[in-house]
Amino acid sequence: MNSLDETLTRRSLVMRSFSPSAPIADKTLFAGRIEQMSTLISIAFQRGQHAVIYGERGVGKTSLARVMKSMFGETAWTSYYTCSSGDSFGSIWRSVLADFPITDTRPRAGFSNDSVVAASTTLADMLGDEDPTPNKIRKILDLLGEADGNAVIFIDEFDRPDDPVARSLFADTIKILSDQAIPVTLVLVGVADNIDELIAGHASVQRALVQIQMPRMTSEELMEIVRQGMRSANLGVDDLFAKQVVKISQGLPHYTHLLCQNAGVYVVEQGRENVRAADFDFAITRALNNVSQTVREKYHRATFSNRETLYRQVLLACTMAEKDELGTFSAPDVRDKLCEVTGRRYEIPAFANHLTDFSSMDGARGGILVKRGVLRRFRYRFIDPLLPPYILMKGRTEGLTQELS
Ligand SMILES: Nc1ncnc2c1ncn2[C@@H]1O[C@H](COP(=O)(O)OP(=O)(O)O)[C@@H](O)[C@H]1O
Ligand SMILES: [Mg+2]
Repeated sequence: MNSLDETLTRRSLVMRSFSPSAPIADKTLFAGRIEQMSTLISIAFQRGQHAVIYGERGVGKTSLARVMKSMFGETAWTSYYTCSSGDSFGSIWRSVLADFPITDTRPRAGFSNDSVVAASTTLADMLGDEDPTPNKIRKILDLLGEADGNAVIFIDEFDRPDDPVARSLFADTIKILSDQAIPVTLVLVGVADNIDELIAGHASVQRALVQIQMPRMTSEELMEIVRQGMRSANLGVDDLFAKQVVKISQGLPHYTHLLCQNAGVYVVEQGRENVRAADFDFAITRALNNVSQTVREKYHRATFSNRETLYRQVLLACTMAEKDELGTFSAPDVRDKLCEVTGRRYEIPAFANHLTDFSSMDGARGGILVKRGVLRRFRYRFIDPLLPPYILMKGRTEGLTQELS
C-alpha cells in the first residue's frame, strides 16, 4: 500500500470510529448508560410495564433506544418507528404493525409435492381503512401473544406529532395493554423536560409507565467515548487532550465525537499515531465549521455587532456561570465569570440589557435564554443545549479565554 492509500484508509477508520451526527447503533461504540439499560431490560421482562425515555436534545436517547432494539431483537419481535410532525395515532401504528409478519401456511391445489406455499402478510393488514382505536390495537397485538411472541416497540421523536389527540390515545393504549397483560412493551422516546410534556393524561397510567430520564453523560462516560473511539481508530490519546474534550462537551456526546473525529483526522494527515494535548486547539478550529448551521446562526445573531460591544463576553460568561441542577444561573453568577473573561470588574447594570436581549422572544438577539422568576431574582437557562459548548469553542479560538473552568 502506498502512503496515500494508507492515509486514506486510516482516515476512514477515524471517520467510522466517531459519529458526531448519527446515533450509535453499534454496541461496541456505545459508552456507559448501564443503569438506563438495566431498567429497560427489567421493564421488557415484566408484563404490563412500559417505558418512556425523555431528556434534552442530543443527550443520547436515540442511541440508547437503537442499541436496546438490536439487543432485544435477539429474543423478541421488535419494531422501531421515528415520528414526524404529520403523524397521527393511526399512521404510527400502521408503520409499526407492518414490521410484524403473519405467515400463513396453506396447501396449494393441484400439486402433490411441494404443496405448501407461504402467503406473507403483516399485522398492518388487519387495520382496515378506518382510524384504529386503542382497543383495536390491543386486539391486533394480542395475536402476537397467541403466537407465543414477545414484542418490544420503540416510538422515537414522540414529541414531534402536532396532532394533540395522538398523545392521549397512546396513554389509553398503554392502559389497555397493561390491564390485559398483553406481551408487548412500548418504549416511547422524546425530547422533554418532564413527562407531562410528552404524555397527556399520564397520571392514569403512572403505574404502568416507567420513566427513564436521560441525564447528560458523566465525565467518565464521555471519557469512555474518547478511549473506545481512539482505540477503534488505532490511535493513542494523551490524557490532557481527553480531559479537555470532556470538559468542553458539557455532558453532550455530540461534541465529544466531533472534536475527537477532527483531531483524529488531523493526526492521521500528519502521519502520526498519537493525539496530543497540543492538537486540541486545532481540533476546535476545524470542528467549529462542522457545528450545525442552526447553532452557528444563533451565535452569530446573538453576538453580531459593528461596534466594540460586550455581547460575546457576556454570552461566554453565561456559559461559564455556575449552574444549579436545572441548568439555571443568575446575574451575579454571570458577573463573576465576566470578570474572569475580561479581567475587569463589571457590575450587573453594565450587562443587564445583554441578558434581557438574549432572553427576548422576538428581538434580533433573542431566543437564546429563557428567563424565569421574579424581578431581582431572575434565573436564566440556555434554550438550545447544543449552543453552550459552541460558545466555549468560539471563546477559546477568539482568545477570550484560555482556561475553560
Ligand atoms: N452512549 C453513547 N456512547 C457513545 N456515543 C453516544 C452515546 N449516546 C449518544 N452518543 C452520540 O451522541 C450524539 C447524539 O446522540 P443521539 O442518540 O442522537 O441523541 P438524542 O436522540 O438524545 O438527540 C450522536 O452523535 C451519538 O453518536
Ligand atoms: Mg433522537
